Amino acid sequence: MRKQIVAGNWKMNKNLSEGQALVADVLAGMPLLSENKIVVLAPAFLNIPETAKQLSGVAHVFCGAQNVHHEMNGAYTGEVSPTMLQAAGAEYVLIGHSERREYNGEHDALLVKKMNAALSVGLKPIFCCGEALEIRDANQQNDFVAAQIQAGLFHLSAADISQVAIAYEPIWAIGTGRTASAAQAQEMHAHIRATVASHFGSEIANEMSILYGGSCKPGNAAEIFAGADVDGGLIGGAALKADEFLGIVSAMVAK
Ligand code: PGA
Repeated sequence: MRKQIVAGNWKMNKNLSEGQALVADVLAGMPLLSENKIVVLAPAFLNIPETAKQLSGVAHVFCGAQNVHHEMNGAYTGEVSPTMLQAAGAEYVLIGHSERREYNGEHDALLVKKMNAALSVGLKPIFCCGEALEIRDANQQNDFVAAQIQAGLFHLSAADISQVAIAYEPIWAIGTGRTASAAQAQEMHAHIRATVASHFGSEIANEMSILYGGSCKPGNAAEIFAGADVDGGLIGGAALKADEFLGIVSAMVAK
């Protein structure tokens, strides 16, 4: 059965003690989750060991990372490897977030290496895709997102793709307060699922979790998550406030 996931992407926010407090508040109000309705918290690298410790023994809530290097060790100053993340307690990792594509020059070939490295140690990737406003305005979003998925994921084996979730995050909706409409999200998610099915078959595509990201809030989450192909969300700004994040988690649980 396809998992519904709400993942909090804290980005470069919350120091260690602020992060501890946020995790505690989120856990205190967490609605009842299950094997198929899960939550991921992705703080900055420095917070991962403590977050993982706070989540240990908590069912269905997992620690994630926002990025990973593609080698396991070596002379890569300032980087963090898949094995390090795993040892610190991360189980999920965001790969290809639009902010990393834009500000860190992460391109398709590098993302392929990151996907392979993460999967090789058993980290579960959340592969991010999504178009900029000019592409949406030119009505090229379907081809653009399909190309991102093809470039980042089509090389994977059936076993590996089954470990991957996709997050569709239209860049024009990230942090802007302008969300995709529920209809736009559903349309794109169905397109993403069809793209995955065209290469991996419908069984694998139907099992894949496809999350929506971009100005998701408690007030719009239920409507967006109602889409048949929308399996939860990747949450930025609203993940930094326990009550807002929990409101979104509740919308996912209620689906
Ligand atoms: P946002 O960010 O919820 O603040 O729009 C989402 C994301 O970038 O993952």
